Amino acid sequence: MNDRTSDRLTIGDPPGENGRRPFVLGLGGTVREGSSSERVLRFALRCAEQEGAHTGILSAAELDIPMYAPGRSERDLRAHRLVRAVAAADGIIIASPGYHGGISGLIKNALDYIEDLRENPRPYLDGRAVGCVVCASGPQAAATTLVSLRSVVHALRGWPTPLGVAINSAETSIDDPDNDRHPHADLRVLARQVVDFAASRPGIPLRRPQRDRAAEG
Ligand SMILES: Cc1cc2nc3c(=O)[nH]c(=O)nc-3n(C[C@H](O)[C@H](O)[C@H](O)COP(=O)(O)O)c2cc1C
Repeated sequence: MNDRTSDRLTIGDPPGENGRRPFVLGLGGTVREGSSSERVLRFALRCAEQEGAHTGILSAAELDIPMYAPGRSERDLRAHRLVRAVAAADGIIIASPGYHGGISGLIKNALDYIEDLRENPRPYLDGRAVGCVVCASGPQAAATTLVSLRSVVHALRGWPTPLGVAINSAETSIDDPDNDRHPHADLRVLARQVVDFAASRPGIPLRRPQRDRAAEG
């Protein structure tokens, strides 16, 4: 984790260590210097902190991991860290660029590693709100990519927040939150939705009563 804000946390902190502040994990960006999707992700995480979460980020350099391969069990350090961080997260914000109308291979590959949480008490993204953010240089790819990212989150049993944010990076002022064209208001709402949902579900697996098999016949 390389974000200034994440220095204050250790992923996998036991519940309660941070006064039950939800842990919101940011995943995303591109390896491109000045990546717009990474910058909006960092902004959204700062908003999540203002809403009371503690946060961490795994940006593109840390998600640049070997292609997920079914049946191959060895994991490099970054892949381990990704899976541990997702398992520890109470909420997630994902920011992808639009590449040819869909999410980037790097982000999709990282999300495929969540398969490692299949047997987890909270499998995949179960019970977690996931804010989806997309940057593309045109409105069409921004929209289609947002739909595909939300579909992946659904497939992973996550709860895409009601608001997703599709950003036309060619026409938006990413660096200046005071600029009218900065998507700050939407990112703030998205971050709040992630934190509110996480705070309402403290990350403890539900202990449903065992079904009475005898009664079921
Ligand atoms: C391989 C590649 C494919 C892209 N495909 C599209 C596309 O289909 N539609 C679009 O509007 N922009 C496309 N873009 C532009 C990126 O979505 C846009 O520049 C985005 O802001 C990149 O994210 P970044 O700033 O985080 O690197 C593409 C860029 C690359 C490098």
